[in-house]
Amino acid sequence: MATILNGKEVAESLLDAVKKDVELLGKVKLAVLIWSGNSSGQIYVKNKEAACEKVGIESLRIDLADSVTQEEILAKIEELNGDSSVNGLIVQLPLPAHIDYPKILKTIDPRKDVDGFHAYNMGKMLLDKDFEDLAPCTPKGMIKMLEHYKIDVAGMDAVVIGKSNIVGKPMAMMLANRGATVTICHSKTKDVSRYTRDADLVVVAVGKAGFLKTDMVKKGAVILDVGINRVDGKVVGDVDFAEVEQVAAAISPVPGGVGPMTVAVLLANTVTAAKKQHNM
Ligand code: GUN
Repeated sequence: MATILNGKEVAESLLDAVKKDVELLGKVKLAVLIWSGNSSGQIYVKNKEAACEKVGIESLRIDLADSVTQEEILAKIEELNGDSSVNGLIVQLPLPAHIDYPKILKTIDPRKDVDGFHAYNMGKMLLDKDFEDLAPCTPKGMIKMLEHYKIDVAGMDAVVIGKSNIVGKPMAMMLANRGATVTICHSKTKDVSRYTRDADLVVVAVGKAGFLKTDMVKKGAVILDVGINRVDGKVVGDVDFAEVEQVAAAISPVPGGVGPMTVAVLLANTVTAAKKQHNM
């Protein structure tokens, strides 16, 4: 039977450490911009706000109406960039179609970019693992989970399925930073199972329930499931969990795996940003 990678538990211990840092810093504030039409984002932001409250981080929510303009969002970001009481600033995705997201992203002060999506933080992360201080939260959370369970990826053949800027690409880089041999598969890959069948570690971030099946997995592999899908009112990941857990050495569940780690790392990044802003 596989080891279940309990992200909820690992996130709790990370949040305990964040709470201590918040006490030391006195006041930490995270601003979150969210479009009112972002229905899944509403749930994620509620989780982020609840986690902030738990560790004593003040959260400032800015709701964006459907009619919001590019200029209004840019002006808000400029205002928050200049507000020294705001330590971290994120724009929950997606945004309405008429908004030019790359331009929005470029405007966020990289020192407050606690999502780690700005080109400065993304580029820095490519250099080495010592430069991942403000790296994207979901992949950083997965790395922290692997570290917690003492799973050393050096020398592993790793496959990341999904090449998004938020998860797939940064995860591939973080694994490479730690000595894994990494393949990135995506929607244009001819035969994903050709790669996953031989992999020691598989990260699945495709957004399709039951995508990774047992015949695609090597016995003894480590499986990280980033998917959050709703099937018959239930939240499930991208992995056929019941089957794959029979062959994997370790596997993250959904819910209670990668998700809580993402939120915990967001708050850890916010504290890291606050410390830097205070020259600590
Ligand atoms: N939308 C989906 N995941 C994320 C995330 O990690 N951060 C932000 N800002 N938006 C998202």
